[in-house]
Amino acid sequence: MALKWKEQYSTGVWWQDKQHKELFDRLGMLLDALEHSRVREDISTLFEYLESYAIRHFSSEEASMERTGYSGRRAHSGEHRRFLQELAALKSEFEEAATLALIIKVQRQLAEWFVSHIGNMDKSLGAFLRAQEAKHEAVVNC
Ligand SMILES: [Fe+2]
Ligand SMILES: [Fe+2]
Repeated sequence: MALKWKEQYSTGVWWQDKQHKELFDRLGMLLDALEHSRVREDISTLFEYLESYAIRHFSSEEASMERTGYSGRRAHSGEHRRFLQELAALKSEFEEAATLALIIKVQRQLAEWFVSHIGNMDKSLGAFLRAQEAKHEAVVNC
């Protein structure tokens, strides 16, 4: 299953887009390995590879929400936690038994979460951050 970042996922905030592209790449590698590889250790490593960058990315967004006093930060951070819990649960399910049904579940849940979270919550955050930036620039240029 090809999973690629598309322009339509852009939040308009450069560092968010850059990090989302990396997340898409890592998720794509995991999905690809689930489809084609039979080496269990490799797939476990790819789960961890995705998880480590997701943690890093979520921290960046959460720090920016704290810094700017973004009102949706609790709900947004809650979705991040949910993703990490889902990822951990899928990884341990996979380690017990790598069934085809599970592989499809991993593909669906993770890819859908990404597209839906980026398309809704991250885009809203991006719009807020851009507005904050514009306000700040207006003050600096006065
Ligand atoms: Fe987010
Ligand atoms: Fe994000």
